[in-house]
Amino acid sequence: MTKKRVVVFSGAGLSAESGIPTFRGSDGLWENHRIEDVASPDGWARDPKLVLNFYAMRFEKVQSVQPNAGHRSLADLQEKFDVINITQNIDNLLERAGCNNVWHLHGRIDYQKCERHYDIFGLRDSYFNCDFKSEISKPVQWGDKCPKCGAQLRPDVVWFGESVDMRRGYLEELIETASIFIGVGTSAQVYPAAGLLTLFEETEQKFFIDPNPAYEALLGFEVIKSTATAVLPELVQRLLQAE
Ligand code: OAD
Repeated sequence: MTKKRVVVFSGAGLSAESGIPTFRGSDGLWENHRIEDVASPDGWARDPKLVLNFYAMRFEKVQSVQPNAGHRSLADLQEKFDVINITQNIDNLLERAGCNNVWHLHGRIDYQKCERHYDIFGLRDSYFNCDFKSEISKPVQWGDKCPKCGAQLRPDVVWFGESVDMRRGYLEELIETASIFIGVGTSAQVYPAAGLLTLFEETEQKFFIDPNPAYEALLGFEVIKSTATAVLPELVQRLLQAE
């Protein structure tokens, strides 16, 4: 029998209880930096060393924390369901918890790519485009060169002003085939990712978990105002038992 499909859409709130802070604090800064200085192509052009230092700190942080009960319960869900995780998070906590199908909309901190990768200039066919990407075990340093073309390497994360690979055909397939949709820990303010919540309106069973949800009511959703670790283990048990 084919397993029913569950699509899980997560944001920073899923990893908050592992010790990785969410983005939208009251001061609008990330670790004392303006977002445009550390997460935009312009910031990279102005001061690449500052950007690399910032991501080196974030890399070390991610490697030093552990998946929480929320991540682990999403891995448990795979026992009876075909689970697809779509995440805005650049950490690897879902993978480390055992989730085997994770689509990172905003890239991954534990990967590097060439600074000439088309994402940064939008020049897919350009002479300058280089598609080099690889997994890393230590942060990218100033002076680390692309083995393919010799340009500077950078973290494989999506910055403001860069395009998100929405894989439209695949997304349409997920919208048509999902039986259950779970949104967790996102303020749903950054597009195009934020639009996913309403794209799954036709899905049979829908949940949204966030202690301070941006949407109090979402059409047809069960909105649960609590944290990922308080809700996900119970919800997952409920879904597994009903199956
Ligand atoms: P945000 O920081 O905008 O939102 C985090 C959400 O998590 C908020 O709605 C919180 O209420 C909720 N939250 C906090 N603690 C939680 C917990 N323990 N359990 C569940 N929910 C909790 O983060 P994102 O929505 O992920 O983009 O932000 C989206 C994008 O904005 C990020 O991917 C990043 C950022 O700019 C890029 O870097 C391109």
